[in-house]
Amino acid sequence: MAHHVAIIMDGNGRWAKKRLMPRTMGHRKGAEAARSVIEACPKLGVKILTLYAFSSENWQRPQDEVTELMQLLRHYLGKELQNLHQNKVRLCFIGNRDYLEEDIQQQLLAAEKLTQANDGLILQVALSYGSRDEMLRAVRDYAADVQAGKVAPDQLSAAKFETYLDTAGIADPDLLIRTGGEQRLSNFLLWQSAYTELYFTEILWPDFDMACLEAALAEYAKRERRFGRTEQVGEAVNVTTIHAEQV
Ligand code: IPE
Ligand code: IPE
Ligand code: MG
Repeated sequence: MAHHVAIIMDGNGRWAKKRLMPRTMGHRKGAEAARSVIEACPKLGVKILTLYAFSSENWQRPQDEVTELMQLLRHYLGKELQNLHQNKVRLCFIGNRDYLEEDIQQQLLAAEKLTQANDGLILQVALSYGSRDEMLRAVRDYAADVQAGKVAPDQLSAAKFETYLDTAGIADPDLLIRTGGEQRLSNFLLWQSAYTELYFTEILWPDFDMACLEAALAEYAKRERRFGRTEQVGEAVNVTTIHAEQV
């Protein structure tokens, strides 16, 4: 069973292009697909869902597309928050918030605060997120703690490093899905997906639904995860269990 599923929601633009529509229509349809997948997760036993919504490189898209995506985010959060809260979803956001408009930063904080005690699905949304940026910020914060005398450089372990990442406290993804046909990670969860199972599908994100998620989970169930060991090891130890205090 996949405890944590991460999804690179790709293909919105191509979905729209095929229908001779503006790319923004693809993003709107993509937001609807996200809603149905979020609803499907608890039914399928998924406890954590991470959605890649906007990358650190997506800032380089044409200004009008970026503006439209930010507008969609405002609208989506405004409209969906109460519904998510009622469904016991705990929202958290990863990525570099400094680049987001002030009102969106406030919306994210308010959503995290409102839902922080919820015990249902953990929905982690990657916004203005890039793994390299996340790791660089972690290293800078760690270096500052070394300089302040709070930690010694030789104390840095993998588990300690993870406490400086945006995903601190969240178990690594078991399954990473990318829609839209490209077979690359595009700067998504590079540290966290060291032993994650990868699943690529040609389906464009706006067409992705519960049945597609079930198909991905069925494929995951067939995989043998070895974490560098052999199947002969007596006791199966999940690598995530060696990290303290993760959900
Ligand atoms: C993914 O769809 C959504 C974002 C990156 C924000 P794209 O907009 O990348 O769609 P394609 O890949 O051009 O079809
Ligand atoms: C990855 O898709 C980012 C998101 C889905 C948010 P991109 O469309 O930006 O990735 P590339 O450019 O194809 O690698
Ligand atoms: Mg794309």
